Amino acid sequence: MKILVTGGAGFIGSNFVYYMLAHHPEDEIICLDLLTYAGNLQTLDAALQNPKFKFVKGDIADRAFVFDLFRKEKPEVVVNFAAESHVDRSIENPEIFLTTNILGTSVLMDASREFGVQRYHQISTDEVYGDLPLDRPDLMFTEETPLHTSSPYSSSKAGADLLVMAYHRTYGLPVTLTRCSNNYGPYHFPEKLIPLIITRALDEKPVPVYGTGANVRDWLYVGDHCSAIDLVLRKGKVGETYNVGGHNERSNLEVVKAVLRELGKPESLITYVTDRKGHDRRYAIDPTKIEKELGWQPTYRFDEGIKVTVAWYLENKSWWENIISGDYQAYYQKMYQDR
Ligand code: NAD
Ligand code: DAU
Repeated sequence: MKILVTGGAGFIGSNFVYYMLAHHPEDEIICLDLLTYAGNLQTLDAALQNPKFKFVKGDIADRAFVFDLFRKEKPEVVVNFAAESHVDRSIENPEIFLTTNILGTSVLMDASREFGVQRYHQISTDEVYGDLPLDRPDLMFTEETPLHTSSPYSSSKAGADLLVMAYHRTYGLPVTLTRCSNNYGPYHFPEKLIPLIITRALDEKPVPVYGTGANVRDWLYVGDHCSAIDLVLRKGKVGETYNVGGHNERSNLEVVKAVLRELGKPESLITYVTDRKGHDRRYAIDPTKIEKELGWQPTYRFDEGIKVTVAWYLENKSWWENIISGDYQAYYQKMYQDR
């Protein structure tokens, strides 16, 4: 199979590239990525040594460029990870979220139609379902839960999801869609909660917790997300949506404390800061469909995944130090200095 992976220089996309090269050495992977602040070519250093892998820099929303790439490369499968992915940035400036996440998705699907792609797979998020109350642990997101978004980010992802299903119904594009809960693991950009805690605590810097830290997220080790996508590509039913999650709900405070414990750092680093606007209270995925229909099972428990992740950040200091010493420093000042 010749697979076009968009957003493959980011967190989940790069983990997927490595997963596929390891599990399906017969497949060819082309990575299309714009290398925004979140994309890092260094992450793909090892993949670039593999003759089955090729990197192309470009914008998924650039129609002429994308059509040209499809004409040259003729991918059989497209997996779209490319997105603006950080909720806080979408609250600051929504526009680029609409361009990349919605327009970019439609351009990729138009090219997929034109060049007869056999499968277009869209990577979506549990955030499209909105949030759940903290005092109703019985409630979970199923594939039938109505879309009900809170942030410009989640609204842009929901817009893309609706387009994906519309392209299937209207044009018969062979699509599949996965909605996953919060991922964590190697190559996670240090603006997101877990890598932010790790990298700041290692520097003995305060660790910012929004509000009271009571908000709940449902954590999944990134490798388990990759295995779910692979399974959906090979066995999933065209036109279907699959929720992906591993029943690992934790409050933010529990997550922060677990990471500090693993690092051997004191809880006195925790600093409570003003809450995120429109902050979703709880996410919880019901993964019954992908488990029952496709036989998917996650392999990492949360405590195991945190151990592996902390160890990776300790062993790969130069990866995140390069990021923090660059643009990211200015971003951190802007977002947190008066908070
Ligand atoms: P990320 O921000 O780490 O990576 C995004 C990548 O997309 C970067 O490499 C960036 O350079 C690239 N990109 C951005 N705009 C582009 C454009 N216009 N053209 C080409 N490339 C572009 O994001 P991530 O956390 O790896 O998320 C990947 C996907 O998974 C996103 O669609 C996100 O919505 C979804 N998702 C993420 C999570 C999570 O916990 N991180 C959970 C569920 C779903
Ligand atoms: O649920 C899937 C989503 O998970 C993905 O669609 C998004 O792309 C991804 O960024 C992630 O969104 P969250 O908003 O849940 O992730 P984030 O790491 O930004 O925040 C996790 C929780 O931690 C959230 O409740 C906000 C809180 N938080 C975050 C940061 C950055 C803090 O308390 N302090 C912080 O400094």
